[in-house]
Amino acid sequence: MQLSLTGKHALIGGSTQGIGLAIAQELALLGATCTLISRNESSLQKAVTTLNTDQQQQHDYLVADYSNYEEVKEVVAAYVAKNNIHILINNSGGPAAGPITEATPEAFFSAFQQHLICNQLITQLVIPGMKTDNYGRIVNVISTSVKIPLKGLGVSNTIRGAVASWAKTMSNELAPFGITVNNILPGATATARLETIVNNKSAKTGHAKDAVEQEMIDEIPMKRFGQPGEIGAVAAFLTTPAAAYLTGVSIPVDGGRTGSL
Ligand SMILES: NC(=O)c1ccc[n+]([C@@H]2O[C@H](COP(=O)([O-])OP(=O)(O)OC[C@H]3O[C@@H](n4cnc5c(N)ncnc54)[C@H](OP(=O)(O)O)[C@@H]3O)[C@@H](O)[C@H]2O)c1
Repeated sequence: MQLSLTGKHALIGGSTQGIGLAIAQELALLGATCTLISRNESSLQKAVTTLNTDQQQQHDYLVADYSNYEEVKEVVAAYVAKNNIHILINNSGGPAAGPITEATPEAFFSAFQQHLICNQLITQLVIPGMKTDNYGRIVNVISTSVKIPLKGLGVSNTIRGAVASWAKTMSNELAPFGITVNNILPGATATARLETIVNNKSAKTGHAKDAVEQEMIDEIPMKRFGQPGEIGAVAAFLTTPAAAYLTGVSIPVDGGRTGSL
């Protein structure tokens, strides 16, 4: 099986910690040169030092805030003008939790911009280089809420559905060029995002943090949270030459939690 990414250049959003960083670490292990994007420069500098360099890769980073799509467009456009990108990981921080009955228009606009508009703009910018170099893999980190909406994540559920629909449409248009577009749907994964969700639930229900965690774990057939590296490994496989004929799919990586086929 051809899994080597040596000579490939990957751009990874939301990658100073959690799932994004884990994906970057797996891509670097497979030989890719990684460029990380996030808001915090010192975290980016630190994250770059955790990436494997066995193939003499010179990893890099870009500072940009996905809540400002014009900034993202400007920063990425300047970078791709000098660097062809072969692998794009569309990822950033998740929308705030809360029931949909209480969601404001601003929360929807903000999540739509951060998740859908930024994906669209960055993808448009990297497509020409993928076509030129005859290699393109796009992986979107979404959520299992694409299959079954999650309780208490009203805005997130709505926007995730839009991103999945966008991705399927994009996969159909890019398939003739051999560029694949797939979605990773993480289940409950041990990151800062999960901690925030647990803390919010604990504050709202008055239940202890441990009890909230146990309740979530009880819903997972594997009876544990996922580790970021377990999401990273599946995402990394989707970017390899071996995954050339796999496109337009959404893959839950959730310990079996999603109760649909
Ligand atoms: N963890 C889970 O259980 C889980 C489950 C399902 C889906 N997901 C989704 O998977 C994605 C990644 O989650 P995670 O758990 O890895 O989150 P995380 O631990 O909170 O990490 C988020 C990353 O994105 C960056 N980021 C946040 N807001 C940003 C912005 N406005 N612009 C640019 N970068 C930004 C952060 O770095 P900076 O702060 O430096 O910008 C950080 O590197 C999210 O969409 C999340 O909702 C997570």
